[in-house]
Amino acid sequence: MPSPMTDLHARRGSILIVDDQENNIRILERMLRKAGYQELFSTTDPRETPALFERHAPDLVLLDLHMPYLDGFGVLDRLAPHLAPGSYMPILVLTADISPEAKQRALSMGAKDFLAKPFDSTEVLLRIRNLLEARFLYLELQQQNDLLEQKVRIRTQELEDAQVEILDRLALAAEFRDDATQEHTQRVGEISARLARRMGMPADVVELVRRAAPLHDLGKIAVPDSILLKLGKLTDEEFAIIRSHTTIGARILSGSRHPLLQLAEQIALTHHEHWDGRGYQPGLGGERIPLVSRIVAVADVFDALTHARPYKKAWSVERACAEIRAQSGRQFDPQVVEAFLDLVARNELGPAAPRLQDDLEETVPRQYD
Ligand SMILES: [Fe+2]
Repeated sequence: MPSPMTDLHARRGSILIVDDQENNIRILERMLRKAGYQELFSTTDPRETPALFERHAPDLVLLDLHMPYLDGFGVLDRLAPHLAPGSYMPILVLTADISPEAKQRALSMGAKDFLAKPFDSTEVLLRIRNLLEARFLYLELQQQNDLLEQKVRIRTQELEDAQVEILDRLALAAEFRDDATQEHTQRVGEISARLARRMGMPADVVELVRRAAPLHDLGKIAVPDSILLKLGKLTDEEFAIIRSHTTIGARILSGSRHPLLQLAEQIALTHHEHWDGRGYQPGLGGERIPLVSRIVAVADVFDALTHARPYKKAWSVERACAEIRAQSGRQFDPQVVEAFLDLVARNELGPAAPRLQDDLEETVPRQYD
């Protein structure tokens, strides 16, 4: 009765036999079948070895050394590219007599063990069992490593998802009082990402812009309701408090080592800067304003203009574009305006953005009239 280990190998172990002597192959096959090995493949033409190896993916190769056309060393050489790096693929060399030099050479070329001809069946089966045991232990370990890696990947993804969600919720917290649906921040993120892509930013930066832009008004969290939601005219002092949302937002986001938060900090600080230097804060102009902030500035104003606020109706896309065009070179970077108008003309601002043909004035809630 076979031992559990032999039984396991018989079920799982497939063996490829390469020997130019048909008779040797028959002897080995008979011996192996008797021991319970069922998946046996063989060839008397060593040149067929790589193709057979690919087709059957054996767990063990029994390889003769002295063969016509291609000897065992030649086979080892041709098999090398087919062995996965770091894998444990046992190759058992069969030979009548072998010098220490030839042994060294075969070992250095990937052979794992040697068997003397004529075969002693007990020895053959023991060697094969040992090699297969090592092979299966290796495969098991590899499987466990794969599982572990998969787990780590899933956990990392979960963490990243949680981080992104926290950022979304942070943006919502800032906008909650005048945009409880968070739609404005999300649209600004989407439009900014599309503009960034249109302006040639690399795909990974575009994704960062998509996530960072919604945080542009995070600092509004520190602006009191009485000012943020005030319908009447703001005093100079109240304006100053509103303006402080850029520096407060940047302060909340400052000191991070994550590129996403660093970008969000930059946007929060400079999204109210004007191309002509008349914005805030601190009043940079032209290309000293980070490009991403010049992009968010256009996206933010466009979205605000085309949506109703407690103190104003929604503007049509056409009217908003005319205003943005009028501000090119003043409030906005002319190149960003050009890219933006191009996106509008192509209806490529994103699924949630208003389009040229939309009649926005008609959709304004009555109470805002
Ligand atoms: Fe803002």
